[in-house]
Amino acid sequence: MHLKPLSILVLAVLWSDCTAQSCSPAVNIDFKASLGIKGDVTDPTRSVNNMPVYGPRSIPAENMLMIPDSQLQMNVTVWWNSDQQLSAFASEDPGLPNGASFMPSSCYGEVRVSTLTDPYSSVCKSFLWTPNREQVGTNYSVCVVAMPTNMISCSVKKCFYVSVLAPKIVFDSLSPLDGQVFHSPVGCDLEVCVQAQDQYNRTHTDIFLTGVDQAYAAAFDSTCQPSSYPSTLNPLFPVSSAEPPSYAPGPCKKCLRWKASPGHENKNFTACFVASDADVNSILAIQRCIIVLVPKCKYCIQAGDSLHSINRRFDFSSNWLQLWNTNGMSELHPDPLSPTTAFGDPDEITATNAIIHLGPLYAIKVGEDLEHVASRFRTTVKKILQINPDISDPSAISPGQVLCLIPCSMD
Ligand SMILES: *[C@@H]1O[C@H](CO)[C@@H](O)[C@H](O)[C@H]1NC(C)=O
Ligand SMILES: *[C@@H]1O[C@H](CO)[C@@H](O)[C@H](O)[C@H]1NC(C)=O
Ligand SMILES: *[C@@H]1O[C@H](CO)[C@@H](O)[C@H](O)[C@H]1NC(C)=O
Ligand SMILES: *[C@@H]1O[C@H](CO)[C@@H](O)[C@H](O)[C@H]1NC(C)=O
Repeated sequence: MHLKPLSILVLAVLWSDCTAQSCSPAVNIDFKASLGIKGDVTDPTRSVNNMPVYGPRSIPAENMLMIPDSQLQMNVTVWWNSDQQLSAFASEDPGLPNGASFMPSSCYGEVRVSTLTDPYSSVCKSFLWTPNREQVGTNYSVCVVAMPTNMISCSVKKCFYVSVLAPKIVFDSLSPLDGQVFHSPVGCDLEVCVQAQDQYNRTHTDIFLTGVDQAYAAAFDSTCQPSSYPSTLNPLFPVSSAEPPSYAPGPCKKCLRWKASPGHENKNFTACFVASDADVNSILAIQRCIIVLVPKCKYCIQAGDSLHSINRRFDFSSNWLQLWNTNGMSELHPDPLSPTTAFGDPDEITATNAIIHLGPLYAIKVGEDLEHVASRFRTTVKKILQINPDISDPSAISPGQVLCLIPCSMD
């Protein structure tokens, strides 16, 4: 599988006052911010040109929405109750982060504060920044200085802090463990579901299947299923109910489905699930792999099966009683590792996906060959090969190799 290139960015922004001002009337600085995602064509409400705006209001000192590859747009409004002109600039200490700009912008009627009375003056600027990959993991502070022209004593400095974080995609408890082994007898419908999400609930997640040998043709959901729990959102700003979040990144659940066919016995395949954030340039991919084993000598009952039909399917001669004997009379058992599985009435098998044993397993002894085993258990080499399709070369069997046997099946 081709992993997507790295480049994810996530932001958390805090702000604070740096200086007290010594001027009356006071010069005020307000910040209003939003984050947008560049290049997300699947959800236009998330594009930069259509950013959710939760202002005007001050940004509370708490974590804000984290969006990969997002552009932070911070509008800075400066005003005071005098008609003397104001100027606002980014403080040289500490300076703007690489790639950020602090540009004049139109105020758009943003100066609407209750303390504002005529005469007044205002100035608006926009801080724009799409952090790059190298900036992940760093905290930045940006300080804005505002003052009326030539009145340094009235200057105000306010700073905001931006943490650039990477999302943290995790598999949750619904998912199999890494290295977990699944036993899937012939005929069984295997379904293995994985679910992953951003631990911060701030980015979308997607999962891919990789590593499966094409010969096994396992199916994997192409889109995430509705998750087992509702998605939650950590909002950029406290969002009132009147301002619903434009999207809610939730967990992604996808399932692998597979059915072993005769011929898969004693074989196995590995399937790996790769979860990453689903945005344009994903940075992070985590992986879990499972092993699917097809046990020998076991079969999953299909809808419409009877002992007779199972007998025919495996060409076990006419001796269906053999199957009945092998499986006793207790409850049908869906666990492939269960030593006994059983049915009562041979004409009535209804429990699909219950597992029956086709015969006993036998480990070849030193000095034995297939002819020897066949005559000892009253069967034929042909029959042994039929239900042991993993034996490709009948002359190359070795001591300890395990055979599925149907004793007394000479005909
Ligand atoms: C910032 O100002 C621009 C206009 O200059 C406006 O389009 C944008 O929506 C504003 N952003 C926020 C977060 O208020
Ligand atoms: C960035 O700031 C956050 C919140 O204050 C803090 O937890 C984290 O350790 C800081 N990271 C660095 C690299 O300084
Ligand atoms: C993310 O969502 C999950 C499931 O709803 C929840 O259990 C978890 O607390 C959330 N995490 C955060 C950081 O909000
Ligand atoms: C899976 O099959 C390979 C041969 O194809 C074998 O070497 C390996 O031991 C098997 N793994 C398990 C867990 O049975």
